Amino acid sequence: MAAIDERMTKALNEQVKWELFSSYLYLSMSAYFSATKLPGFAHWMRVQAQEELMHGMKIYDFVIERCGRAELMAIDKPQFEWASPLEVAEAVYSHEKKVTGMINGLVDLATEKKDHATLNMLQWFVKEQVEEEANASDIVEKLKMVSGERGVGVLFMLDRDLGQRPPKLQPVVSGQ
Ligand code: FEO
Repeated sequence: MAAIDERMTKALNEQVKWELFSSYLYLSMSAYFSATKLPGFAHWMRVQAQEELMHGMKIYDFVIERCGRAELMAIDKPQFEWASPLEVAEAVYSHEKKVTGMINGLVDLATEKKDHATLNMLQWFVKEQVEEEANASDIVEKLKMVSGERGVGVLFMLDRDLGQRPPKLQPVVSGQ
């Protein structure tokens, strides 16, 4: 198989940065939930941060496997403060929609380059984004129900449910 195209490599390296930024952002959200005494939400966001790190490593490994040069870009400081759990969930949903747009852009570029191997790798991400958006949107909808007298009870029930999410961290060592 021929080495990966330079423009494609650059775009994939850029996506590694965004996946790692997502991990950083979600860890910051986890810290917010820890500070607001919602450990279930904090756990859910922490698992999500682990997942984003895995996404980044998946692309990083792919670039190297295709004999491209994996170049790590600077990652911005993520947001630190939010007004409410609903605002966090809405920010996750909106961020995931942005990431879906980026994945679609990579698919467009791989199509233009007739790069079938990259297209195949990206299909996993296309599917994953459907799930990521659905999860985020589900939490937004549930949090919208948290108002009125029964609101606090619903919030704690949701916190308990989110705390059940199994950890996703798998070996991120290449070849395992
Ligand atoms: Fe890696 Fe949540 O997108």
